[in-house]
Amino acid sequence: MTQFKTVRGMRDLLYEDAETMRYIEQTARQIASLYGYGEIITPIVEPYELLAAKAGEEVRSRMFTFQDLGDRRVALRPEFTASLARVVATRLRNEPRPFRLFAVGSIYRYDEPQRGRYREFWQSDYELMGSSRPEADAEIILLTDSLMKQAGLKNHAFKVGHVGIMRGIFRQEKLNEKVQDEIMQLMDKKQYEDAFKAVENAEASEKCQQVLRDLVATGGKDTSAVIDSIREHVKDYSSAVEAAGNLNEILKLVSEGGAEIDLTVEAGFERGLEYYTGMIFEVNIRGLDIALGGGGRYDRLIELFGGDPTPAVGVAHGIDRMMLGLQEQKVEHGGQTEALVTVIPIGDAMRSQALRVSRILRDANISVETEVLGRRMVKALEDADRRKMHYAVLVGEREMKEKTVVIRDLRRRDQKTVTIDEAIEIINQSRTERS
Ligand code: HAM
Repeated sequence: MTQFKTVRGMRDLLYEDAETMRYIEQTARQIASLYGYGEIITPIVEPYELLAAKAGEEVRSRMFTFQDLGDRRVALRPEFTASLARVVATRLRNEPRPFRLFAVGSIYRYDEPQRGRYREFWQSDYELMGSSRPEADAEIILLTDSLMKQAGLKNHAFKVGHVGIMRGIFRQEKLNEKVQDEIMQLMDKKQYEDAFKAVENAEASEKCQQVLRDLVATGGKDTSAVIDSIREHVKDYSSAVEAAGNLNEILKLVSEGGAEIDLTVEAGFERGLEYYTGMIFEVNIRGLDIALGGGGRYDRLIELFGGDPTPAVGVAHGIDRMMLGLQEQKVEHGGQTEALVTVIPIGDAMRSQALRVSRILRDANISVETEVLGRRMVKALEDADRRKMHYAVLVGEREMKEKTVVIRDLRRRDQKTVTIDEAIEIINQSRTERS
């Protein structure tokens, strides 16, 4: 018989992994609510053109694309940003700004599978639309910092840059948009020599080539010194100077905002997505050589989708990678299911009573598994022991007549006959002791 496996790059998440995933999702929701971001649920399948526009070659070429039965060209979403921009351009068009939108769910990219890189993965996404001001950019960085902390991750660090620096130079050098995009893609992949070659081939000036080399070598944690040096390198390119000034303002707001953030500015840092127009950033943790999140400012996407001009900035976090980070740093989280109580009928005649007792316990908010294999008590208890359950509630004929049950403490290995209310009290008591 055929043994089916999951599709390459896609995984089943079992028990603890599923719990960790939901724990991060829950934390992401909590952060959304603390910062006032309202959740939006959008379809996993979207028109190909919507997702392809400005996604960048890297993402575009890796989309799961197909014709549906109505001959429409559709794709599985490779990110949330396009869908949320579509919502703002259409359904929210006449609503007051700014919009703070949150989405969480599965994302699909035909990436080469490896540790932390899957073809189905999960993102939490936050978009702040309708403000071009630096405090909006700062909010997105601060929110990411809050999420990492709240999830329990340690030693996270930001890498920040600004698309406007390079774009400003390229525009002044009159490089066409397509060539610019190609160069940015190469920079994103850190293929700097190829990028310099492309700049040379595009007949940019000698000075431009030198400035780019200088920029790629410019970075560090002393943000104002780095920005000063960027300003110096690009002094002949007015909009690049402006971009450096904008980055400076954002970073000043972030540091004056009071959060202690480990942050490095890199003038040569680029991201694969083409829609970015301003500040861009990624967040990493030590020991994991992959980004846990990334984002930036994109001021023209909503307009491109037929909406009113709406400057925007946002971020998406890779939930799978945050999971890896939690495992790597051995962070315990409160998401684990607490040990269960098992309810065992003593003999078939007690099956319905066992279901009834289970229901009463659950009504008291106690997690219960009812014995459903018809095993003898000894076998069922052995199994409960093996699974590290805390209590067994035994439902026998004699006790039922007396409206009682036997509660057995599986760790202390003692038992007593009590009313159901008393059993609930005992279980709750041990829960408070543990917490
Ligand atoms: P992105 O950098 O393409 O940005 O993805 C964001 C995060 O998703 C990454 O930092 C990473 O943690 C996770 N991720 C990406 N690809 C994979 C993969 N194959 N397997 C596992 N995790 C992955 C965006 O998606 C933009 N939409 C972010 C944004 C929102 N910009 C503005 N608003």
